[in-house]
Amino acid sequence: MSNSSSALKIGPRIVIALVVAGLSGVIFMLTLIEFDHLTSTEEFCTTCHSMELAAVPYRESSHYNPASGVRASCGDCHVSEGVLTATFDHVMGTKDLLRQIFGPKYDNPVVNLLHLPDAAFAAREWFNDRNSATCMRCHVKEAIIGKRTDTLKVHQEDAKGKGCVECHINLVHRKVPGEKTFKRDGWNRMVEEEFNLETGMAEKILRGDVEAPAVE
Ligand code: HEC
Ligand code: HEC
Ligand code: HEC
Ligand code: HEC
Repeated sequence: MSNSSSALKIGPRIVIALVVAGLSGVIFMLTLIEFDHLTSTEEFCTTCHSMELAAVPYRESSHYNPASGVRASCGDCHVSEGVLTATFDHVMGTKDLLRQIFGPKYDNPVVNLLHLPDAAFAAREWFNDRNSATCMRCHVKEAIIGKRTDTLKVHQEDAKGKGCVECHINLVHRKVPGEKTFKRDGWNRMVEEEFNLETGMAEKILRGDVEAPAVE
């Protein structure tokens, strides 16, 4: 009885409780930052994402090997700025995890390549919805001089109000046509040719009628 009423006064216990709560808040934020950091690295992303489609072309791109050595990591482009938005992106990223477990067998290169256009379109939409904010971490739109004489003007005038990925696609990964010109038929035939499959196999694999063959 006397114990509970004394706890209501601002006594040492309350102060200790507040300090503990404050510290846990700080530890919580630091954990979030650390969590965001760890889950933005190339090592983390490529535990799932195909080397052939995502990482190999990336390592050959000017974003991996620029003259200046200013290297863009997976997270620099794909994870938003700020602890809370970054955490949000990672929590949304758990849908990647769910698809990895319950979705098609993306580990199979045939399946992965067949589904690649959907992933590329979804990724482009993600950038466009945010006006390509992550690109602007490094690039200043109004200052892009480029190699052609009109490039500065393009970015100061035509690019006004537009995100980078509305004009620049296929920067660092296996190329996928723009959504408007994309032809599913042609893509399926290309995949079949690449993996020496009979014509029509792509559709069967996509429908789930047959298992994708094991390829290297
Ligand atoms: C647990 C496995 C796993 C991890 C780790 C993972 N992903 Fe994914 N991700 C997937 C799967 C599965 C898909 C859906 C199919 C596909 O595109 O391969 C996907 C889709 C995507 C897409 C396509 C857009 C979309 O939403 O469909 C992007 C972009 C992406 N991931 C980026 C990343 C980045 C960047 C990282 C590291 C921060 C990452 N992923 C970590 C499994 C993973
Ligand atoms: C310079 C910015 C940039 C970097 C760095 C980058 N990406 Fe991307 N990524 C994009 C863009 C833009 C797209 C949209 C598709 C396209 O046009 O290439 C994309 C698309 C994707 C997709 C969807 C499937 C595809 O290939 O289109 C995945 C998965 C992905 N990225 C994962 C990664 C991983 C993993 C890394 C690090 C190894 C990485 N990205 C590094 C900009 C980047
Ligand atoms: C971490 C910093 C960083 C981020 C983030 C970044 N870039 Fe770059 N980008 C660079 C550097 C560095 C170069 C090479 C510059 C040079 O050599 O002049 C480059 C080059 C380019 C080029 C010209 C060369 C090429 O590969 O075509 C384009 C276009 C470009 N970036 C667009 C983008 C877009 C679009 C995004 C967002 C999806 C983006 N960048 C995100 C740093 C970055
Ligand atoms: C309206 C379309 C459009 C938008 C939006 C746009 N660009 Fe460009 N960009 C171009 C064109 C066209 C060129 C010149 C042709 C080329 O070199 O690809 C170019 C060239 C570049 C170059 C120079 C390439 C070189 O080596 O000369 C870089 C870097 C670049 N853009 C980055 C960006 C970034 C980053 C953004 C977003 C902040 C962006 N662009 C937005 C159309 C656009």
